[in-house]
Amino acid sequence: MSLKKNIDLDNLPKHIAIIMDGNGRWAKEKGLLRVLGHESGTKSVRTTVEACVDLGVENLTLYAFSTENWNRPKIEVKTLMGLLIFSLKKEVQTMQENSVRLNAIGNIKHLPRNVQKELLQVIEVTKKNTAMTLTLALSYGSRDEIVNATRQICDKVKNNIISIENIDDALINQHLYTRNLPDVDLLIRTSGEKRISNFLLWQIAYAELYFTDVYWPDFTNENLYEAIINYQNRERRFGKTSEQLK
Ligand code: IPE
Ligand code: IPE
Ligand code: MG
Repeated sequence: MSLKKNIDLDNLPKHIAIIMDGNGRWAKEKGLLRVLGHESGTKSVRTTVEACVDLGVENLTLYAFSTENWNRPKIEVKTLMGLLIFSLKKEVQTMQENSVRLNAIGNIKHLPRNVQKELLQVIEVTKKNTAMTLTLALSYGSRDEIVNATRQICDKVKNNIISIENIDDALINQHLYTRNLPDVDLLIRTSGEKRISNFLLWQIAYAELYFTDVYWPDFTNENLYEAIINYQNRERRFGKTSEQLK
């Protein structure tokens, strides 16, 4: 029996972010090449996107490639970039059918030309879709994002566009790659690792964290429902007391 019926649709997280981890170990345990783990992981991307649209989640952000992942063996990086192009081409139709708008965060200019081209094309084609914003974090690092924002803000101060007094939470937010997204409500990491790995450090200030041992290629809709139900059973106090929330 599906857990879906236990989800309170009036209390969905507005923004779910996922650190899709464990592709390599999934493959290794089966005696397969790591690459096949990544390929299998793309199936979980598809089912998770569809399940989120189906529930009515407005924002889903997936950590697909970190700034640190550039340090992996060249052949693995190359395969991941190839898979990305292949998946973008393959999924654009489904994105249209589900009214999914594609967005990307990270140092996109650092990606190979052909990846950038495909990415920007799908972003353009899907820009009017309204059901859900799917954000891919590519060549993304939270520290890189914060450095980048700091440089832009300093530049504006230097050129008298803003003054130091104008710098607040909202202004910093506006200079992040995620400027058009709400804060993360629920952060999921698969594969048993309990760390953030340079993902959305600013944006998860008050996110609920959910860790599961399931490897990303094995992550099913039921695992997603489980995470959402777990989230819905938590009390988000935002610094207040429990009594104040009543
Ligand atoms: C996550 O799976 C995918 C990327 C980081 C691109 P991994 O490749 O990190 O899998 P493990 O952690 O080695 O099992
Ligand atoms: C984080 O996973 C990055 C992505 C899922 C894209 P990693 O596997 O790269 O993280 P670490 O190295 O275990 O911290
Ligand atoms: Mg990993």
